[in-house]
Amino acid sequence: MSQALRDARRYEEAREALIPRETRPAFHLSARVGWLNDPNGFSWYKGQYHLFYQYHPYDSHWGPMHWGHAVSSDLLHWNYLPAAMAPDRPFDRDGCFSGTALSLPDGRHLLMYTGNAKEFTETGEVREVQTQNLAFGDGIDYEKYEHNPVITAANLPEGGSRHAFRDPKIWQARDGSYRALIANRDAAQGGQMLLYKSVDLEHWELVRALQENRNRIGNMWECPDFFELDGKYVLLGSSQDMLPKALEYHNGNGTFYFVGGYDPETETFTEESDHAIDYGIDFYAPETILSPDGRRIMIGWMQNWDTCNLHVKSTPWFGQMTIPRELSVRNGILYQTPIRELERLRRDEISYENVTVEDGEVFLPGVAGRLVDLEVTVEPDADSPVYNRFALRFALNDQFRSGVSFRPHESTLKVDRKFSGSRRAIIHQRRANVPHKDGRIKLRLILDRYSAEVFVDDGAKVMTFTINTDLNAEGISFFADGKLHLNVKKYNLSEA
Ligand code: FRU
Repeated sequence: MSQALRDARRYEEAREALIPRETRPAFHLSARVGWLNDPNGFSWYKGQYHLFYQYHPYDSHWGPMHWGHAVSSDLLHWNYLPAAMAPDRPFDRDGCFSGTALSLPDGRHLLMYTGNAKEFTETGEVREVQTQNLAFGDGIDYEKYEHNPVITAANLPEGGSRHAFRDPKIWQARDGSYRALIANRDAAQGGQMLLYKSVDLEHWELVRALQENRNRIGNMWECPDFFELDGKYVLLGSSQDMLPKALEYHNGNGTFYFVGGYDPETETFTEESDHAIDYGIDFYAPETILSPDGRRIMIGWMQNWDTCNLHVKSTPWFGQMTIPRELSVRNGILYQTPIRELERLRRDEISYENVTVEDGEVFLPGVAGRLVDLEVTVEPDADSPVYNRFALRFALNDQFRSGVSFRPHESTLKVDRKFSGSRRAIIHQRRANVPHKDGRIKLRLILDRYSAEVFVDDGAKVMTFTINTDLNAEGISFFADGKLHLNVKKYNLSEA
């Protein structure tokens, strides 16, 4: 084991012990210490879920990337394992960037990741060179492959950039051969997802660009994922430098999916629809797994590059994952629901039926908290015009509040953390278009101390954001401009 990895393991173990548990989310994975970004190597291996992550243990800001590591049996309770990789080889000396994992038929755990190494040009410029690499392990310790890197600039199509070539998604095809889908910048400065094939994991050949962005949905694409689901094929990605397209995509870093068809003979993908994966503020770089019981489950980084660098250096940890979400496809839409294991954490059910709210704010006894699973259905009043606005407010006290509000006449749902205690001029609000019938809408809100995930209409849309609000702000209220009726079901979520 390299000195760099040994140092990181010693450091994280000592530092983790200094971070009180209640300052972390209860059931969302957070950085063991320091900084966390993308989920990596999400896999099932030796009877447990493994989740690795982009990790800089020594600072709460991004730096030379390590791979942090945690395991779980239910995707909600995580145990940290020692860091799996440090940037300690010539080809990854400036970072072990994102990648994925596979349980190999011979019992080994394979990590495939991007090595980032800076090069200095003759004119003094610094450029990153990105290659794809392997590491083999037993679930705790990983050896980088002696023939790394296995995919380099030599494997690129014409015009493909060796400076932006990263985040391999690896899987095994039905015939036992391997595929890797890798993000790349093309000659026109756009993004493409390159599909490679190998029979021995060491020698890879380019099959084709599975998808190209042709100057839409941002430029460079990152973190591809590709899978079959409900008779369709789904391609996930994250994009830099996006321009908004009505309320579908927003400025800056964001995510997208394509639903389409795939021809296994020619290995070509045909897109049919595209949408954002999450319409909130903090969501990026998701990865999926096929669970042993056949569910396609997705976890994302619950942050965004555009807003993640404003905390003070002394913050002991920064960065958390989303709740794992079960995926399904219906009518070209990717549905997401919190993994069903979450229901096992539900306690103290409280429900209210047909609560009328008219031109004002209502608090319901027992409905409060910051570890909460809340279901709300909103019905219009049969004898009144459709209401103007409904708002669900939470993490609320005299000083603070966050919320989500629905305007049926505009068909927009807005998340808002302007009054959450943020002292920075970052994005605090975002809107999504939500189709509805006469103002009927169904929301499920998951609160885990410093985050809110809002699942709309059984997961047709999701809006996710983090809040840095004092934990004493635990009120929840229901507001109406106009007249409406609510059904509310609320559970506390147990930490144990
Ligand atoms: C996405 C990303 C990846 C890269 C990693 C570096 O968030 O930029 O493309 O591998 O983060 O930490």
